[in-house]
Amino acid sequence: MTGTLSPGISESSATLELASLLEPVSAEMKLVEEWLRSNLIDDSQFVASLLSQVFKAGGKRIRPGLVLLSSRATAPGFGELTPRHIILAVLTELIHTASLVHDDVIDKSSLRRGQETVNRKWNDKLAVLVGDLLFAQASICLARLMNPAIVGIYGQVLGDLCAGEIKQMNQQYVCAVDWDGYIYKSVCKTASLFSAGCHSGPILNGCGDEVVSALKDYGTNLGICFQVVDDLLDVTATASDLGKPAGGDLAQGLLTAPALFVLQREDEPARRLAELIKTRAVCREDGIAEALQLIKDNGGTDSTIALARKYAQQSREALRGLPASTYRDSLESIVDVMLIRTR
Ligand code: IPE
Ligand code: IPE
Ligand code: MG
Ligand code: MG
Repeated sequence: MTGTLSPGISESSATLELASLLEPVSAEMKLVEEWLRSNLIDDSQFVASLLSQVFKAGGKRIRPGLVLLSSRATAPGFGELTPRHIILAVLTELIHTASLVHDDVIDKSSLRRGQETVNRKWNDKLAVLVGDLLFAQASICLARLMNPAIVGIYGQVLGDLCAGEIKQMNQQYVCAVDWDGYIYKSVCKTASLFSAGCHSGPILNGCGDEVVSALKDYGTNLGICFQVVDDLLDVTATASDLGKPAGGDLAQGLLTAPALFVLQREDEPARRLAELIKTRAVCREDGIAEALQLIKDNGGTDSTIALARKYAQQSREALRGLPASTYRDSLESIVDVMLIRTR
């Protein structure tokens, strides 16, 4: 599939809302955007054009937004940010984008951000290398921060991303309900980077442990909420809503919250869903349609929304100790934007 897809109603209203919440750091967001589009130095014209295509395709830029807001919310006197904060925001988006380029190889995905993926347009080998290149550029940014604690935090994120993908790979088509495993995987794949982005700015600002740990908790809970919502949308949204294929998780045997809620009932719908998964019927069009309907009819989507709300609430509570500011308000409202996407 080629061409850009426009987002659906919930997605577009969430995107609009997000843009307005990032307004207090809009000048800094522009610098991040310029960096992503022009500072990715590469001698090869081909590689440079590849990278610029990856970033031109867009993305919500939620992670750099969180870096800038949490930095500003904890800066002395809410003062201006430094070039190091901008680099921190850039490297967080570089790592995220690299992980998506690799994730699309693993998931054999052909659509991302409304565009053909690197693996689809070229091939897997090139996509692996482009992802590595982005990770390398993130490492250079990390070195420029000259902060060993932040190097350690992001080193952990890189390990977590791999551990999350490996865990997911090992659990394909396994119907045993393992909530701890699901949350662990969500922390590794998504919340670890959210958390790093949210508490590294306060570290650069020289904040005390209490503030740093509040933003760490905020990011972790928000990240889990974000992944739970993403997993929900895989069941409820369409490809044109998302700019990436929907319905693919279950077809690939990736059991996320909506399916787990049904499987744990141990009743007839649960048995039927497990059968569709174990026999790989979910890989066929009729099988996946039946499985998705079973999930919707048996509380899978409603319970997933409730789970997302639980993490959203924990995320909001983590901000309670921070001094009031427009930046803190935005951090709080971003939690609500996550939930708009569930409507
Ligand atoms: C997608 O992240 C991957 C997940 C963690 C679910 P985003 O939804 O933030 O992707 P972009 O950057 O907006 O494309
Ligand atoms: C998040 O997981 C991707 C990474 C953190 C690498 P998903 O596999 O759910 O992301 P999408 O749905 O492909 O965007
Ligand atoms: Mg994926
Ligand atoms: Mg997903």
